[in-house]
Amino acid sequence: MFLAVLCLCTLGSSLAQAPPPHFRPGQEPITPLPPTPIQDPQQVALGDRLFHDPRLSHDNTLSCNSCHDVSANGASVGQPKSRIDAGPELNTPTVFNAALNYRLNWEGNVRTLEAQADQTLQKPQTMGSSLDEVLNKLRGDQDLSKQFREAYGREMDGPGILAAIATYERTLLTPGCRFDRWLGGDASAINAEELAGYGLFKSLGCVSCHQGVNVGGNMYQRHGIFHPLGSPEPEIVRVPSLRNVAVTAPYFHDGSAVALAQAVQKMGYAQLDRVLTDDQTKAIVAFLQTLTGTYLGRPVTQAGGSRQADAPR
Ligand code: HEC
Ligand code: HEC
Repeated sequence: MFLAVLCLCTLGSSLAQAPPPHFRPGQEPITPLPPTPIQDPQQVALGDRLFHDPRLSHDNTLSCNSCHDVSANGASVGQPKSRIDAGPELNTPTVFNAALNYRLNWEGNVRTLEAQADQTLQKPQTMGSSLDEVLNKLRGDQDLSKQFREAYGREMDGPGILAAIATYERTLLTPGCRFDRWLGGDASAINAEELAGYGLFKSLGCVSCHQGVNVGGNMYQRHGIFHPLGSPEPEIVRVPSLRNVAVTAPYFHDGSAVALAQAVQKMGYAQLDRVLTDDQTKAIVAFLQTLTGTYLGRPVTQAGGSRQADAPR
């Protein structure tokens, strides 16, 4: 009896009016961004201020925003890589939507935004400082100390600094991209070529790794499965998100692809053993361009602010 009802329902829905090609409402392997979560506004404001504060770095030259420019693409404009005196160079990933990745950093070796921020303070490649050092500097700032007390109801401490930064980062979502509007049922939000690109993205198998709410960011994979991709280390990485990918060049953990079309072709060859035609590449790039969202109502863009450290605010 139960089965019969089930069958009837399925039959009923398959006879309903034709959906756009390739489109199965609610069953696509990619899902739209959720609404930006409501956070405590005082904690967000404090996190925003800390994110832009160069005193977080040992020599007071770099804020988080120096490498993750939120007025542009949340990554580095101009200088693509972290400044490295130690260790391998890594391409800077965007902080936009990072809160929705299930693990953080290229290797996916960090679980929480708080732990990520703590590590970033310590790493010689980024801040070369430490939470204690930062705390000592910031405690001398009356105005900031007051803002902290108002946000957290206690004197400034390390866990609060990390929590405020993480709280701010949770608001760095980029809703409103055309593809999400299409997923929401607006058939006119993307054109025929973009839709064909999405079809290829699924049929070629890109979507087996780049999927979910961030079009990536939810699994580990080897890179260079069939053919080498770039520098071999690290061998296993967390699959990057492709949200805003059209405006976050260069690509890959080592920044070895400068243009999106090049990255797409390299992916096809390295991960799927496919040599993509120019038309296929063009359609996939067109699809990926529909994944560019907005932050505070402005489109996320590659061009933008400068890498100069912000003055303390
Ligand atoms: C000198 C440039 C630089 C600075 C300054 C910097 N970052 Fe990063 N950020 C990077 C690089 C490079 C990575 C990749 C690190 C890795 O994979 O190990 C990264 C990774 C991240 C990620 C992970 C993104 C993801 O999707 O996995 C977050 C979140 C982040 N940074 C936040 C911050 C915060 C918060 C600060 C300030 C406390 C900061 N960054 C300062 C260069 C920088
Ligand atoms: C087997 C898993 C897998 C498949 C299949 C796959 N990718 Fe990837 N993709 C990855 C991994 C892993 C990386 C990161 C590689 C690195 O940084 O070394 C990546 C990186 C990318 C990047 C660069 C993102 C950035 O911000 O640097 C793009 C663009 C991309 N993939 C598009 C595609 C397209 C298009 C396809 C299908 C033709 C595809 N991928 C198929 C796993 C995969």
